[in-house]
Amino acid sequence: MKRNSLKILTALLAVSLLLSGCINPDKEETTTAPIDVSQIDKNSIGSYQNMSYQYLIDINPALVTTNLSKEYLILVNKTVELDSTYEPAQMTVLTCATRDSGRTYELETRAAEALYAMLAEMQAAGVSDIMVTSAYRSYAYQKRLYNGYIDFEQTCISDDARRVFGNDYIKANYLDKKIFHLSLEDAITVAQSYSAIPGQSEHQTGLCVDFITSGEDELTEAFENTAAFAWLSQNAYKFGFILRYPKGKEGITGYTYEPWHYRFVGREAATDIFVGDMTLEQYLQLTAQ
Ligand code: DAL
Ligand code: ZN
Repeated sequence: MKRNSLKILTALLAVSLLLSGCINPDKEETTTAPIDVSQIDKNSIGSYQNMSYQYLIDINPALVTTNLSKEYLILVNKTVELDSTYEPAQMTVLTCATRDSGRTYELETRAAEALYAMLAEMQAAGVSDIMVTSAYRSYAYQKRLYNGYIDFEQTCISDDARRVFGNDYIKANYLDKKIFHLSLEDAITVAQSYSAIPGQSEHQTGLCVDFITSGEDELTEAFENTAAFAWLSQNAYKFGFILRYPKGKEGITGYTYEPWHYRFVGREAATDIFVGDMTLEQYLQLTAQ
């Protein structure tokens, strides 16, 4: 039976304010106040029950049902990790535009279907400059990536290092001592602010993608200024995708803001998360029985 989403969301929102403090009480929440869901006409924003987008009709209808959607609510973060042998049950090799045409990018099959529908709709809206730059990553691949970030952080004092430690720390511990690279310990701290350790990356679920545009050399917050981001910000949830690491929610997700990282959770959950201005962590706490 379909639930009354608006009523539930209003209740969820009230509790979410409390929970955001409970999940990580040591961190101060810096997010802006969530939107007042009671003021939103869900039909006007295209809820999962009332979609008018032409490409959505091609999505497997099973994706919108509550029971099946739960399969896509798997939580992977700094406290819930996957076994090194975990692999998605069914994957599809992506045929959409990707950053490196010489590489194979795979995604969980239904997440890939939803991705294709989303990209088709985006293109129909006039936004075509978008490529997938990362999709499924095995445990071994994430390990190589993470170790590479630690090596990188050790070779220099990056902008990320200044962000994590602050200029005073960098000056006192490195520049004043004429040391121009980070210790291993500090490099690990910096790397873990933006990269998951192996087993803790939700890329291992095959349910998320990183996007990039042709004007960008690497993943930075500049993605926020692209037409693709503007469109995704308002429409990704309709296809079951959420912005997984939002700005202002770092204390809950454990990672810096990633405007390029979208996670498939199914359309119902994505709509609730979008309208309630929540993270996946908050949504799962609120809907736990
Ligand atoms: N950048 C995200 C947190 C990952 O490494 O999975
Ligand atoms: Zn990512």
